[in-house]
Amino acid sequence: MRVVDRSGRRVRVTAPGRVNLIGEHTDYMGGLVMPMAIDLATTVEATVGGVRIELRSDSQREPAVVALPCGHPAELSPAWARYLGAVAAELDNVSGPDRADPDCAEPHRAGPDRTGPAAVRRGVVGLTGTVTSTLPAGAGLSSSAALEVAAALALGANGTPAEVAALTQRAEHRATGVPTGIMDQLCIAAGRAGHALVIDCATLAIEEVAMPDAAAVWVVHSGEPRALAGSAYAERRASAEAAAAVVGPLPTADAAAIEAIVDPLLRRRARHVHSECARVLGFRDALRSGDLPAAGALMVASHRSLRDDFEVSTPGLDRLVHELCAIPGVYGARLTGAGFGGCVVALADPGITLDGGPLGDMRRWRVRPADGARIEVL
Ligand code: GLA
Repeated sequence: MRVVDRSGRRVRVTAPGRVNLIGEHTDYMGGLVMPMAIDLATTVEATVGGVRIELRSDSQREPAVVALPCGHPAELSPAWARYLGAVAAELDNVSGPDRADPDCAEPHRAGPDRTGPAAVRRGVVGLTGTVTSTLPAGAGLSSSAALEVAAALALGANGTPAEVAALTQRAEHRATGVPTGIMDQLCIAAGRAGHALVIDCATLAIEEVAMPDAAAVWVVHSGEPRALAGSAYAERRASAEAAAAVVGPLPTADAAAIEAIVDPLLRRRARHVHSECARVLGFRDALRSGDLPAAGALMVASHRSLRDDFEVSTPGLDRLVHELCAIPGVYGARLTGAGFGGCVVALADPGITLDGGPLGDMRRWRVRPADGARIEVL
């Protein structure tokens, strides 16, 4: 990972949201996930330079103003500034003997410790501009990860999608204190139009899988707020890790060994992670062969496992999955993202609209697989 100094340049970064089709609560256990980047996105357009990040957002009342270097991002206000400060702080940690951009005529001029043209940069350069987004915030479509990845690229992050994802995942931890996995950021960095990604979170290897034309993806918001930071996410992760301490890495553990775990709670948690990884492969194969009813059935099985074994569903999400699955033309549905409220993803025939019916005025989006984040130097 390098940090490119584009002082004086104007940049536009577009970072998509993501929806996870299957493979939930497996990423932080080194398991398989299958998300896709979507055609709703966050755009940062800004001039690079100065010693502050100053961005206005079309969806936030207060602008974010972050003085650099940013020492305590989690204390910033308004809250959305924390993501920006945390990304800047992580970029400042990126080591390297010389982070100046060879394409850029002028080396970074900010900072009192500059000693001459050969000076090594001491930190990221600021940004002044705007954030606009078609991604609904707090809907489970990773609007915060999209902002992190967009900010990282605008601030000069220049690395592979896996490097950008690892950096922004650390930023998410700093900003929120929640020990999330790498799925959201990696999908946003590596997305490919027309495809979903099977990501092996143990190796970060990515397999692109074409989405069949006969499959439409819908996201429906249950109306229940999803309080990730205040939720049991960290507790679920800790109990899955405790189970792995007994039987080894859960994705590849022996199923009989999992069933022999004495503690019933750890046994259920382990069973979910193990079986969910197998469902990802089954889902991938079903999409490849165009067997959408089989793919839909695996989504429903995933939801049941999240409800019964991992216990991250809610009665509202269960009801929504049930109602969606009763609609002719819907192949399957499941909660998507961390759970505890938020959204359901459904796989459906493209001929149906999901208008009206049992969903009433619930917010819903038909989403299409999109490319990952990109930067344009204007
Ligand atoms: C959140 C996290 C991801 C992942 C999901 C659950 O979206 O950000 O890393 O753990 O929950 O699959």
